[in-house]
Amino acid sequence: MDKRIFILSLIASAGLAASAETINISTPATSLIVRADRGAEPELLYYGARLADADVDAVVSTAKAHPAYPVYGMRTQSETALSVRHADGNMALRPLVTSVSRDSVDGLPVTTVHMRDQIYPVEVNLNYRTYPGTDVIDTWVDVVNGEKGELVLDRYASGYLPVRRGDVWVSHLYGSWANEGRLMQEPLQPGIKRIKNNDGARNSHTAHAEIMLSLDGRPNELHGPTIGAALCYGGNYRIDIDTDDSEYHHLIAGINEANSAYHMRRGETFTTPPLALTYSDEGTSGVSRNFHRWGRKYKLAHGDRERKILLNSWEGVYFDINEPGMTAMIDDIASMGGELFVMDDGWFGGKYQRNSDNAALGDWTVDTRKLPGGVPALVSAADKRGIKFGIWIEPEMTNTVSELYEKHPDWVVCPPGRDPLTGRGGTQLVLDMSNPEVQDFVVKVVDDLMTENPGIDYIKWDANMGIQNHGSLYLPADRQSHLYIDWHRGLEDVCRRIRAKYPDLTIQACASGGGRANWGVLPYFDEFWVSDNTDALQRVYMQWGTSYFFPAIAMASHISAAPNHQTFRTIPLKYRIDVAMSGRLGMEIQPRNMTDEEKDLCRRAIARYKEIRPVVQFGDLYRLQSPYDGRGVASLMYVADDKDEAVFYWYKTEEFVNQHLPRVRMAGLDPDKTYRITELNRVDNTPLDCEGLTFSGKYLMDNGLEIPYTHDLDYHKLNDYASRVLRLEAVR
Ligand code: GLA
Repeated sequence: MDKRIFILSLIASAGLAASAETINISTPATSLIVRADRGAEPELLYYGARLADADVDAVVSTAKAHPAYPVYGMRTQSETALSVRHADGNMALRPLVTSVSRDSVDGLPVTTVHMRDQIYPVEVNLNYRTYPGTDVIDTWVDVVNGEKGELVLDRYASGYLPVRRGDVWVSHLYGSWANEGRLMQEPLQPGIKRIKNNDGARNSHTAHAEIMLSLDGRPNELHGPTIGAALCYGGNYRIDIDTDDSEYHHLIAGINEANSAYHMRRGETFTTPPLALTYSDEGTSGVSRNFHRWGRKYKLAHGDRERKILLNSWEGVYFDINEPGMTAMIDDIASMGGELFVMDDGWFGGKYQRNSDNAALGDWTVDTRKLPGGVPALVSAADKRGIKFGIWIEPEMTNTVSELYEKHPDWVVCPPGRDPLTGRGGTQLVLDMSNPEVQDFVVKVVDDLMTENPGIDYIKWDANMGIQNHGSLYLPADRQSHLYIDWHRGLEDVCRRIRAKYPDLTIQACASGGGRANWGVLPYFDEFWVSDNTDALQRVYMQWGTSYFFPAIAMASHISAAPNHQTFRTIPLKYRIDVAMSGRLGMEIQPRNMTDEEKDLCRRAIARYKEIRPVVQFGDLYRLQSPYDGRGVASLMYVADDKDEAVFYWYKTEEFVNQHLPRVRMAGLDPDKTYRITELNRVDNTPLDCEGLTFSGKYLMDNGLEIPYTHDLDYHKLNDYASRVLRLEAVR
């Protein structure tokens, strides 16, 4: 090492060491304590339930200190969050605290621990942000390269959290297309539990970038200390929980650095996505409520705005789009009380028609052979019926069979010198979002659509392919490893530009179903399509898992046909409605194929949903009985903030003669309030025993209500499903 630099750095650290600082970041119910002594590595001392002021000093002096952000080089034997290669090839980094600042960024309090390497001009800023009125703290890092040459980032996680060993269980989601959001709960064992994604474009079909840690044994929905962590990122991620030989589990979460070494020029700053942390002693539902409240208030687009009840054309007509068909669907949903009609795939194409999934993506002009009046005719048809109009696009993609690809073969993700791999339909390709020309094109797709049809209220934004081969024809040879990150920066930039121009537009994130359920993209989207699987029974499981991290207002949940198009299961309409009504209600069916009786049931359900919509979409979720427990029933409820209203859902998940189901106790009510019970969507010949009666919140939470296991129906209507939706209203 250069002697002069060494002496200078010694002087610098000696001068700084004088000032010691304890940072206490707190939310109404949580505290995070970091020691940031000048000239030393910052240390994380505590994260958990809010500390009483009187305890802080004692906790600080007795806590087991961990690095607040472990860095590779002078610490080589444990997992680290950051590892770099300096321009001279040196691989060690030791950022020491230079100062602490407290700012307000976009109205939110941010505390930053500024660090600088002991020797090299590399700065690392460790940020913590709180969100007033919520119990979420997020953390992220900025790395600034002050070196003359390139600094290469080999690992660049967003955050680190040590978690005291004990009987700690992790809850996480896994799955695949049409089976998203499956809940897995398992105890942490020695070794690394890794949750990761490599899709490139969408990241939540398989694993999810969010986890919960139940600190005190098997996860419980209503009780027990629980930590939640959500990486707010739409791209490849890696969440590691390393259980080493110490007393701690080590959680490190961030962008997946696999095949993604990042080269930084002099003066460049690399900012990681934030890792949102929360803590609740009210179990996994408590952590969910924390995420939901924070998500609605600060993250989700229009988290304070009620969502419209819609009909989407996909499962009703698939690619068979034509003007009379669309107009008939507009009529049908309007007549059932719906508020929005969404025309799905199949409406566009010029030289190549979009009659199946193998052509025309990228050619976003209306196919006037199908829709002679274009989109304006449909917008005005909707307008005449007093509803809104929405449209499907998949703007980040193209097909080999398209005018766009003919014109711009270099716009797709493709390994230089090879033919690209194709996806859906045997011809689909992903556009290279790292290319600014492609970004402009994608913005223009939305811009043109909106300029020509300002009446469009809603866009379903799809993404049906991941990055399957590595290569950008735009990025230079020495930046090929930037593809995954720059692709996402490109997408986010596009989303920001679209949102700046169309702040009121409702946009759904769809990605072959639930491929884009993450807090990285949701600031630009109002909701996501939970899954292409609309089977109500499987949805009970998928929506249960998804609700761990995402609020009902964001979870698009549609009534579809029977037999179901994915599982071929025949489920009665009542059950399909009851499941869809626990999320953002919509329909995805051909109304022409429904009987008048079925339409009438939907009409009544839509009217009722409008009444309970504020509670479902803005209320607090209490998961009561998990379908994963295999007890034959699943149950959950939403409770309004003031606890004056609630909605209770009960779904039987299996049918056996003379079976014994648990009686489900309610939660989240005011024990001292009295609630009147009204059953919604009743199909039974006789009302429930509790219909119209009042019970104290205490009784309902101590005992729950007795729910009959079957419906009282005429013989020819009997079936093996049962479900109930009860509305609870506080009476004065
Ligand atoms: C994806 C979506 C579906 C539908 C089709 C259209 O699969 O998830 O909802 O929009 O594309 O091609």
